[in-house]
Amino acid sequence: MRPGSGTTTRRLLLAFGALVALFAAASGYALGRLSDIHEGTHALREVGGRAREARELATAVRDQYAHLAHTIILGNDSHRHFHAEARARVEALTRGLSAQARDAEERAAVADIQASGDALDVLYRDTLLPAVLAKDARAVEAAHGRALEWVNRIQARVDGLTERWDASMGVFEAHVGAVERDSFRWALLFLGGATLFAAGVGVYIGNSVARPVARLSEGAARLARGDLDVRIPEDDPGELGHLAAQLNRMTGALRAHQSQLVQHEKLAGIGRLAAGVAHEINNPLGVILGYARLLQRRAEGPLAEDLRVVEEEAVRCQHIVEGLLDLSRPGRGPVEPVALREACEDVVARLSESALLGPVAVEVHGEGVAWVQPPRLRQVLLNLVKNAAEAAGEGGRVEVRIDVDAARVARVAVSDSGPGVTEEARARLFEPFFTTRPGGTGLGLAVSQAIAEAHGGRIDVDAGPLGGARFTLSLPAPPREQEVAA
Ligand SMILES: Nc1ncnc2c1ncn2[C@@H]1O[C@H](COP(=O)(O)OP(=O)(O)OP(=O)(O)O)[C@@H](O)[C@H]1O
Ligand SMILES: [Mg+2]
Repeated sequence: MRPGSGTTTRRLLLAFGALVALFAAASGYALGRLSDIHEGTHALREVGGRAREARELATAVRDQYAHLAHTIILGNDSHRHFHAEARARVEALTRGLSAQARDAEERAAVADIQASGDALDVLYRDTLLPAVLAKDARAVEAAHGRALEWVNRIQARVDGLTERWDASMGVFEAHVGAVERDSFRWALLFLGGATLFAAGVGVYIGNSVARPVARLSEGAARLARGDLDVRIPEDDPGELGHLAAQLNRMTGALRAHQSQLVQHEKLAGIGRLAAGVAHEINNPLGVILGYARLLQRRAEGPLAEDLRVVEEEAVRCQHIVEGLLDLSRPGRGPVEPVALREACEDVVARLSESALLGPVAVEVHGEGVAWVQPPRLRQVLLNLVKNAAEAAGEGGRVEVRIDVDAARVARVAVSDSGPGVTEEARARLFEPFFTTRPGGTGLGLAVSQAIAEAHGGRIDVDAGPLGGARFTLSLPAPPREQEVAA
């Protein structure tokens, strides 16, 4: 797995996972509270039902007593039937309460109501009613007194139960109210928190996913429009940053490839033109040079000096023509392993013999073998050492360092103590006809680069160890066994 791979997926999963977890926690809490409220309300309804039935029982007992009193007042049995009805109602309600009693105390109270009710009924039927019908005032009075005691006893019991259930109702109401208030507060907190959290997740996704994707898409669009200078920020640590880096690398490669293509096309164009022009110009140039030398021998004084200038300029034209011809055919001919140290020393000797080095000290270090056409290699080395000596100037130093690396690339680095290369010049060094030297053609480096590339190598430039520029020629080296042949 590449570095950063899967980071965006992890981030999205994390953000959405956190949101889902928050939502699940909020829902779980809300469900729990709802169930609490539901249970509380159910219990409240049950206790409320019991309290209502107890009140109904109290009313029914008063009703029963009213019929008992009417029997006494009227002195007949006209209310016997109503009394029986009221008694039946008291009994039914007492049975209902008995089924709903929750503990021993409530069950004992209901049993007492039941027993007192039964006793009251027996008293009415067996004692009070016969005494009323017999008009026995004393017996009636005694029975009434006992009946009142039973009624009061029942009422006291019913009141006790009603109070108890009313109190329970109060407790349940307080509980349900507290749960409701609690739920409301938590719901508000969850809603507010979830909104803030969702906004945070949105900002997080925006920063870590949407923004880099937008920058990538903008960069890709600019690239599609042909803008090869586009550079997408690579600050994202995940695979989006990785993708941006890849896109940037691809753009860089495209840019390099394009400029190489342009350079090749330029050289090819110049080469085609040069080959034609050189062919046509070489002969007349040769004729001009021949005549100039012939006339020089005969002429004297200022005329001889003028003819020498004509000869010099004709030679310069020949050099330009040769340079252009070299550009048009940089790599024709057989390659062989060439010992670089010998080649470099040979070039330095030739240059100093022809006084082209001037008072510049040149040192050659290291050795190695390159796979190259010997005359082409000499041409490149000559250009590089001559340029270095020209840049170093009087009293300057030039150092040639040779080495071969493990990847079998041979390098010849030519460093000088000159002023170095400006940023501006560096971009144009290898363009044909780019020169800053009076009398230079600007073809030396262009031809050298074309030759290096024709051999599968190249020339790079950077700052050298002597304070000036360093031009490094890289060429393929033969396998170690073949070095001996050189
Ligand atoms: N060692 C160096 N230090 C600083 N600048 C350099 C160096 N070598 C080359 N240059 C710059 O690169 C330019 C092009 O070099 P190139 O060899 O192609 O042409 P030239 O030397 O100007 O002319 P020619 O080689 O055709 O006589 C030079 O004019 C100079 O500005
Ligand atoms: Mg030169």
